[in-house]
Amino acid sequence: MPMRLRDGKENEEAAYNLPATVDPIADLDQAIADAPARIAEASSLDQLESVEGALLGKSSQVGAVRMSMGKLDPSNRPRVGAKLNEATKAIEDLLSAKRDELEAAHEERLLEDEAIDVTLEAITLPSGSLNLVQQTIDEVVDIFVGLGYKVAEGPEAELAWYNFDALNTPATHPSRWEQDTMYLDWGDPEDEVLLRTHTSPVQARWMEKNEPPVYIVVPGRCYRLDTIDATHLPVFYQIEGLAVDRDIQFGDLKGTLLHFAREFFGPQSEVRLRPHFFPFTEPSAELDVSCFNCDGGEAGCRVCGGAGWLELLGCGMVDPNVLEAVGYDPTQVSGFAFGAGPERLAMARHGINSMRHFIDNDVRFLRQF
Ligand code: DAH
Repeated sequence: MPMRLRDGKENEEAAYNLPATVDPIADLDQAIADAPARIAEASSLDQLESVEGALLGKSSQVGAVRMSMGKLDPSNRPRVGAKLNEATKAIEDLLSAKRDELEAAHEERLLEDEAIDVTLEAITLPSGSLNLVQQTIDEVVDIFVGLGYKVAEGPEAELAWYNFDALNTPATHPSRWEQDTMYLDWGDPEDEVLLRTHTSPVQARWMEKNEPPVYIVVPGRCYRLDTIDATHLPVFYQIEGLAVDRDIQFGDLKGTLLHFAREFFGPQSEVRLRPHFFPFTEPSAELDVSCFNCDGGEAGCRVCGGAGWLELLGCGMVDPNVLEAVGYDPTQVSGFAFGAGPERLAMARHGINSMRHFIDNDVRFLRQF
């Protein structure tokens, strides 16, 4: 903004501290001569901008001539004016050539810096997988679904009545004491609630609501007041099986479980039943499968320890009292049931020596499955 002097006239020389121009033509020639070297020094667009100010701005040589045009003797104006235009144009051309050059170099650098090397190995995130217990549950359920069984589920917080009484296990029964443990509501026998100790109560729940025939498998979580050791977890899984129909016999139980064992452990598997006791089945048995590792022949086998058999699950023929408790007629229908622990099944199949591995969350263990 030009400085306004006291007499009201604008005095631009004073405003910009311009050097008094002696010979504008010589000054402009000088400016033209100096420009290439000055411009060549600029190595960035920012630097070029300040060079432009220094060469063409108000305090440059060219600028000084431009400002003084008005004070020139009119006879000199066309000559100086033409020279001024020539100098301005020459310098602008040089600047613009340099600007193109710097912009091209800048683009080039961007391209290099931002180039993507498609040959670099990608960062791959490891993907998780189902825990072995869940894999085992899925596999067992699939085997029974293949036989036409339905999948049923029931509550983990269960009425004591379904967990015990409906399964022929009255309050006075000694076998109830071992599992008489984690109560959420205790006292009035009618509505005592506990964390279910097995999946068997779903047998009673299903039969109450459905007429025979019944073919179900029931996977689910169970709870017992057990201290963690190699063969016990306080929170564990079971898969219950129940078949109720006309004329179901013990041979059906054995044949079904043999089929299951051969699907799960391999076609060479044999099974054997050992007498046992469960309140809700009569007769009751435990099922063993022949050792798939040594086939019964190897002393100190790492899977069966030389026994030749692996203990798998509890089973039996449904006690008539259970059928009656849910309103079925035991003279018309009969059935078998079984309860297996997927942790135990997985341990038997993979030679896992402790249940603790299932809850340790050690990826070296988990990755193997
Ligand atoms: N509920 C039994 C337990 O937790 C397992 C079991 C045994 C289930 C025999 C059954 C059965 O259905 O028939 O030990």
